[in-house]
Amino acid sequence: MDQDATRLDDRTALVTGGAAGIGAGIATALARRGAAVVLVDNDETALDRTVAELTQGGCTALGVVADVRERSSTEMMRGAVGELSGGRLDVLVNNVGDHRPWGPFAQTSEEDWTAVYRLNFEHVLRVTRAFLPSMIERRSGSIINVSSVEGLRGVPNCTVYAALKAAVLNFTAGLSTEVGQYGVRVNAIAPDVTDTPQFPLHRLIGPEYHDQIPRWVPLGRFGTPEDHGDVAAFLASDAARWVTGQTIRVDGGTLASPGWFRRDEHRFTNVPRNFI
Ligand SMILES: NC(=O)c1ccc[n+]([C@@H]2O[C@H](COP(=O)([O-])OP(=O)(O)OC[C@H]3O[C@@H](n4cnc5c(N)ncnc54)[C@H](O)[C@@H]3O)[C@@H](O)[C@H]2O)c1
Repeated sequence: MDQDATRLDDRTALVTGGAAGIGAGIATALARRGAAVVLVDNDETALDRTVAELTQGGCTALGVVADVRERSSTEMMRGAVGELSGGRLDVLVNNVGDHRPWGPFAQTSEEDWTAVYRLNFEHVLRVTRAFLPSMIERRSGSIINVSSVEGLRGVPNCTVYAALKAAVLNFTAGLSTEVGQYGVRVNAIAPDVTDTPQFPLHRLIGPEYHDQIPRWVPLGRFGTPEDHGDVAAFLASDAARWVTGQTIRVDGGTLASPGWFRRDEHRFTNVPRNFI
């Protein structure tokens, strides 16, 4: 290939939850590589701010104020994609999700499970279903689902969220096999410990503990939305033309040896701190 295969010129992308956090990082990375981007979010103020930053930076971006839990949101998304590209969507990023609230499973209700399902999985199905037929028809497209490292392990007090993030990964794998024949690729990102409005790590973890971060995260720092943006941009682009059905853990290495922490340069422990 002569051209830079990571460029996204002449592509149209849509990112759910694109106003802040990881979604904004992804929308920005796609737009800076040349894609026209639709950002969908239910926080109008944050959406206006992020869209303005992108357009002032010379990017093409359009905001859609919508709640992805509502069925009607897909019509609004279709309208925006129609406006930007006549209806052609090349890259879909299903990013909305939330791990809150935490609590013992025994104390949860059926209404709680439905709420977690609607926020973490149902819209992934609905938005994918809305845009997949046209990708199949055109014989091209890249779908990126934002899951979590929690979809790859058990999480006490966050069991339903983690189970639904696992569902996102299984959906990614099965769908990739189903639609590979049409040139549509489906991949996932599994984040961990990334500083965002939902997970403001530098505030949650007091400054007195910041010297512990390198013991926790092998690459020595918390993640940023930009770390995810670069990986999503790769998956969206022709540089990943033979990559589908994959989950890329964008976690600074936290899940590589779960439960193991660095004590000093050469020593590691998997024993709770107060036992040693
Ligand atoms: N931050 C992390 O460390 C981390 C770890 C694992 C997984 N994740 C996953 O990454 C994704 C993004 O996480 P984040 O930390 O950036 O979240 P965030 O809450 O900081 O940002 C989410 C964005 O989505 C928007 N949003 C929320 N609900 C919406 C709805 N119903 N309709 C439309 N927009 C909505 C919010 O307004 C916000 O702009 C989520 O799926 C999350 O589960 C994040």
